[in-house]
Amino acid sequence: TWRSTDIIADQIARVRAQVGEGRVLLGLSGGVDSSVTAALLHEAIGDRLVCVFVDNGLLRLGEADQVMATFAQHMGVNVVAVNAEQRFLERLAGVTDPEVKRKAIGNTFIDVFEEKAAELEGIEWLAQGTIYPDVIESAGAATGKAHVIKSHHNVGGLPEAMKLKLVEPLRELFKDEVRAIGLELGLPRDMIMRHPFPGPGLGVRILGEVHKEYADKLRAADAIFIQSLRDADLYDQVSQAFAVYLPVASVGVMGDGRRYEHVIALRAVETIDFMTARWAHLPYEFLDDVSRRIINGVDGISRVVYDISGKPPATIEWE
Ligand code: XMP
Repeated sequence: TWRSTDIIADQIARVRAQVGEGRVLLGLSGGVDSSVTAALLHEAIGDRLVCVFVDNGLLRLGEADQVMATFAQHMGVNVVAVNAEQRFLERLAGVTDPEVKRKAIGNTFIDVFEEKAAELEGIEWLAQGTIYPDVIESAGAATGKAHVIKSHHNVGGLPEAMKLKLVEPLRELFKDEVRAIGLELGLPRDMIMRHPFPGPGLGVRILGEVHKEYADKLRAADAIFIQSLRDADLYDQVSQAFAVYLPVASVGVMGDGRRYEHVIALRAVETIDFMTARWAHLPYEFLDDVSRRIINGVDGISRVVYDISGKPPATIEWE
C-alpha cells in the first residue's frame, strides 16, 4: 500500500542519514520485529548490515533453516549463524525453575551474541526491533513481562568497549504497520503472520529440566499441530497455538504391551492483547486427528491432552 511504501522510504532515508557509512549489527531471531528490521536495514544499507542468528536448540522444527533460507539465501542478507545448542543445553542442565530457566537462557543468549559481536570488526551501530508498544511499556512500570522479554531479545548488555550506538527503525510503528511493511519488503507471509514465540522458546514449554531428547519430540509434535492447523485453515483464527512437553509417565498400550510414556499438551488461545485469553474451541474431529497423528508420529508419546484453561487464571505458557 502507499502507506507502507511511504513508511519504508521514510525509514530508509532516516537510517541512511543516521548511520552514514557505518556498519550495523542486528540480533535476528526470526520473529516478526527483528525480521522486518533486517529487511528494512538491508534495503537501506545492504551488506553493511550484519545479522547474528543464534540457534539455541530451543527453536521450532526447521526454524533455523527457514531463517537462513529467507534472509541469507533468498534475500542476500549478511547473516552469521551460530549453533549454540550444546552450550544452552549445558547451561540448562539441572535447572527446573521456570524463572531460573528464563534467566539462564537470556544470559547465555547475551554471552553468545556478545562473543560473536566482538569478533566482527568495524561495527558502530546496534539495531533493535523495538516497536512503539515496547517503547510505551518500558516507559511505564518496568516490572512487566514485556520488559523482561525485550531485555532478552533486544540485547541490553553489550560490552562497554564496543560502545555501540542504537538504531531502531520500527520505534514509531504499531504491530500492524510493522507487518504491512514486512510484506511490502517481500518477506514471506507465513513469517509475518506467525504466532508469537517466547524468547526462551521451547525452554519454557518443556516442564522442568530441559533435555535434547524432549526438545526433539516436542518439536515434532508441535510441527504436526501447527501444520494441521494450517491445513484446516484454523491457524489464522487462533492467536497462539503450540505443544507443551509434560515429562509425566503415563500408561499406554501399544500392540501387546503396556508402556509408560510422556504426555503432550496442546494449547490454543484466542486473545487481542495476550493479557487475557480464552482457550480456542477447536473442533473435536480436528483434535482427534491431531492426537492420532502425534501418537503415531512421535516416538515415546502415548497420550495427548488439550488445555481448556482460560487466562486468567492460567497463563498462556505453562511455565
Ligand atoms: P503468558 O504465559 O504470560 O504469556 O500468559 C503471554 C504472552 O507472552 C509470551 N511469553 C514470553 N515471551 N519471553 C517472551 O519473549 C518470555 O519469557 C515469555 N513468557 C511468555 C507468551 O508466549 C504469550 O504470547
